Amino acid sequence: MLAGKRIVLGVTGGIAAYKAVEVSRRLVDAGAHVVPVMTAGAEHFIGRTTLSALASEPVQTSLWDEASPIPHTLLGQTADLIVVAPATARLLAAYAAGLSTDLLTNVLLATRAPVVVCPAMHTEMWEHPAVQANVATLRSRGVHIVEPEEGRLAGGDVGAGRLAAPERIVAAIEAVLSAGDDLAGLHVVVSAGGTREPIDAVRVIANRSSGKQGYAVAAEAAARGARVTLVSTVDLPVPGGVVVRTVETAAQMQAALTELAPSADVIVMAAAVADFRPVVVAAGKLKKDQGIPQIVLEPTPDILAGLGASKPAGQVLVGFAAETSDLLANAESKLQRKNLDLIVANDVAAPGVGFQHDTNAVTLVQRGGEVDTIALTDKRSIARAILTIVVGIRAASTIPNSKRSLTK
Ligand code: CTP
Repeated sequence: MLAGKRIVLGVTGGIAAYKAVEVSRRLVDAGAHVVPVMTAGAEHFIGRTTLSALASEPVQTSLWDEASPIPHTLLGQTADLIVVAPATARLLAAYAAGLSTDLLTNVLLATRAPVVVCPAMHTEMWEHPAVQANVATLRSRGVHIVEPEEGRLAGGDVGAGRLAAPERIVAAIEAVLSAGDDLAGLHVVVSAGGTREPIDAVRVIANRSSGKQGYAVAAEAAARGARVTLVSTVDLPVPGGVVVRTVETAAQMQAALTELAPSADVIVMAAAVADFRPVVVAAGKLKKDQGIPQIVLEPTPDILAGLGASKPAGQVLVGFAAETSDLLANAESKLQRKNLDLIVANDVAAPGVGFQHDTNAVTLVQRGGEVDTIALTDKRSIARAILTIVVGIRAASTIPNSKRSLTK
């Protein structure tokens, strides 16, 4: 996995910088080529000789003193992965803001390789809203964050902020490299956001869905090499490499998805589709002096059930289930009823879960009955877990029947 991979190891100025030496040693032992980059701050904590001796080549620190006139583009373009361990609050802020202040931040901005960032700092700093906002920004862009651990910090304090153990950092690097572009060549269609069903010219029936989970799935699929079409009702920043079709109502979403479905290898139906819409839409604005209107509702089409009924062979169909009770039973019945391969169920009544939050906690139920639970985490990590299961379902379905019985 790590053999032959070119990994830039960025080290910034924190007391945990000494652990970067161990990370480097483990990577080199596993066959990786480690290119060390230290910031000026890091040199207060470890000597460049130590890291140079244990990495695959000498430490670089500056944009100006190296043999190459453009070390940052060279390093950024040739890396298979960049890891920053430890990452200080300053590094997180500069990277989130796109500020190129030294060789390491230049390399981070001049790469398309996956990036793993391992923050380490005092608890107060780690929990500061500015730091957490920068971490959230980086995550939303697909940067992999290895969360710090609880433990003893410099100066004898105890709390969250200690650099993750070197083995955890190396495991995260391996996981990122193995995910790689496992969706390359596939067309992934994702729906996101709540539909809005008109009552009159100005009013709609809407729901609380923010669309963030669908956008995170789209971003993750694109990062893993898929061609991604996002059918969306909301106006969020479009992830790189994703084509968006904007719709408003369930009927419009159904039309877009019905058109896209035949060419889709994977469909992830993260949208919150209204179940009911007004039978009659008033032409103008309903006025108060006309009295209290009686709004008669009719069901909308169940888009996902329709996609399940006409699912082409080999397509993986993923639905969501927003529940407030009997999570597993309801999810399983929706999975069967709508002919899905995977259903992502969340208890939308739980704190921090589902609608409008940046975090989610889900139970993933596969057609065969396999159940995975993901505790409260950011929506990008949930997206990562969903797509990893999708890749597994595709791999299992391409094993010829004769072999499948042998592998049991
Ligand atoms: N869905 C859909 N079309 C609808 C309603 C739901 O495609 N008219 C999809 C959602 O996008 C989601 C899945 O079906 O992927 C389950 O949606 P959910 O609202 O949890 O369940 P419903 O089928 O609407 O059932 P209920 O309202 O009884 O929970």
